[in-house]
Amino acid sequence: MGQVAKIVKVVVPVAGMGTRLLPATKSQPKEMLPVGRRPVVQYVVEELEAAGLTQILFITGRKKTAIEDHFDPDPELVRLLSAGGGYALLEELKYTETEARFFYTRQSTPLGLADAVGHAKEFVGDDHFVVALGDSIIKSSDGSSFLRALIADHLRSGAACTLAVEEVNRDEVYRYGVVKPKEGQETAQSFDVEDLVEKPRPEVAPSNLAIAARYVFSPAIFDAIQRTAPDRNGELQLTDSIRLLLQLGYKVRAMRLRPKERRYDIGNFESYFKAFIDFAIADEKYGYMVRQYLKRKVREF
Ligand code: UTP
Repeated sequence: MGQVAKIVKVVVPVAGMGTRLLPATKSQPKEMLPVGRRPVVQYVVEELEAAGLTQILFITGRKKTAIEDHFDPDPELVRLLSAGGGYALLEELKYTETEARFFYTRQSTPLGLADAVGHAKEFVGDDHFVVALGDSIIKSSDGSSFLRALIADHLRSGAACTLAVEEVNRDEVYRYGVVKPKEGQETAQSFDVEDLVEKPRPEVAPSNLAIAARYVFSPAIFDAIQRTAPDRNGELQLTDSIRLLLQLGYKVRAMRLRPKERRYDIGNFESYFKAFIDFAIADEKYGYMVRQYLKRKVREF
């Protein structure tokens, strides 16, 4: 593979069933649940645009058309708001006037994250690309782009895969893919990955560094996905495909989220509630009111 100048393509898998969020996700995608004033997937797309990613492929599934509708400009609604003088509300629709181009393809049966990414093969072609999970937000306290830094590290190192990772509590590693840094690089900000394992038991986990919903890949990942064996639930795990990349001799890197960055995974109610509270108290318009309200409530506990 020759020198890669720039990455503009991103794959956003949103085809999962969201069963852990039932009944909220019975008839709507979890990626459309609001966190503060916006649906989760709108934050994800803003993050992608800030990192210079302009070709966005959603891997969708059943009951996910609301995502497509959300990013589709709606001239009728704009006309209605303009006629009624609703200029402040028009501002809220500005996100649809983007340079980015959206593409959609369907994963009819959710057979795992690696299977979802495999659907992007033709879209990706010979280019390096990003994968961003549609149910996770990466928030930076100073507005800087973690993804931009991740892409830069990927291009600099010549890796076939570069992962975002975050430190989690030891007793929570069983929820995540966990990486093992190469010896001597354990404390580095970004490092070579020696091995990785999906949902390990805490006592056998190789570290407490969990894969954090953002990846950069070379097209070599598609060959690895094709060779990946299904897990005991019949799903293809992306962590297993990345492990195969290592076994095939490719370089895999990881970069830690920096102290100013935080990952919000809204795939379960506990972290969804935390995300909503954090975004609500930081809201420009309503944050002060929410903080006052919470202070009052806390005194009642
Ligand atoms: P999750 O495993 O967290 O999502 O996948 P899920 O399957 O929807 O969750 P539960 O267990 O049923 O509650 C992380 C991301 O990968 C996508 C999901 O939509 C989510 O954004 N995904 C997962 C797919 O696109 N296809 C799949 O087959 C699995």
